[in-house]
Amino acid sequence: MKKNTLTNLAIIMDGNGRWAKERGLARTKGHEKGAEVIREITEYCSNHPTIKTVTLYAFSTENWKRPKMEVDFLMKLLEKYLKKELKTYHKFGVKFETIGDLSKFSPKLQKQINATKEETKNYTKLTQILALNYGARDEITRAVKKLLEQNREINQDNISKALDTPYTDIDLLIRTSGEQRLSNFLLWQTSYSELFFTPTLWPDFTSSELEEIIEKYHMVDRKFGGL
Ligand code: IPE
Ligand code: IPE
Ligand code: MG
Repeated sequence: MKKNTLTNLAIIMDGNGRWAKERGLARTKGHEKGAEVIREITEYCSNHPTIKTVTLYAFSTENWKRPKMEVDFLMKLLEKYLKKELKTYHKFGVKFETIGDLSKFSPKLQKQINATKEETKNYTKLTQILALNYGARDEITRAVKKLLEQNREINQDNISKALDTPYTDIDLLIRTSGEQRLSNFLLWQTSYSELFFTPTLWPDFTSSELEEIIEKYHMVDRKFGGL
């Protein structure tokens, strides 16, 4: 049997809070550890022969509902993360991109996000796409609005191209922490994705577990409605 190629990977990085709670720590400690795991996974993906994009769900349009203290912490963490990870992007040849509506973030953070994109835009080994203030319904709605404003035809191809994502379909979607739902992530792009759910909490996730999941993905019979 021919193995499935993996080009576009997406991960719902869930379970930071529970990881911290299990250790009697504040939830914020789980987010800190979770941010470190992103580096290992990004390095793995950048060395993988076929993965071209890895899209990571970092902050949803619904996550603003969390206590202000946690939201504020996550914003600060994102700032620190971008500052620290610029080295990683340079080292591994990773282009940094985002999806989601950035207009809700502080002007300072928006500036930093855009500067990071600008600095890494010529890298081609891997594109890391952070989903920030991202919600699939919001993305699809914005895409359709954009087409209407430009007087363009509403068809699948045009909608796909008007989305935030600079690519089309996700091959493999992984969610950590045992929850089996999409939580408003990439609803359009995952129509035919293979879905894998692992009980591992995100801060405990490793590149070797990712490799095991990819091995399973390779063997799935992807039919896309055919025979
Ligand atoms: C995922 O971990 C990170 C974000 C949503 C920012 P959670 O914070 O959702 O962790 P749990 O689900 O409460 O364990
Ligand atoms: C989804 O996780 C969002 C991110 C991982 C950023 P949540 O923890 O917010 O999702 P629900 O609330 O359990 O569905
Ligand atoms: Mg969660």
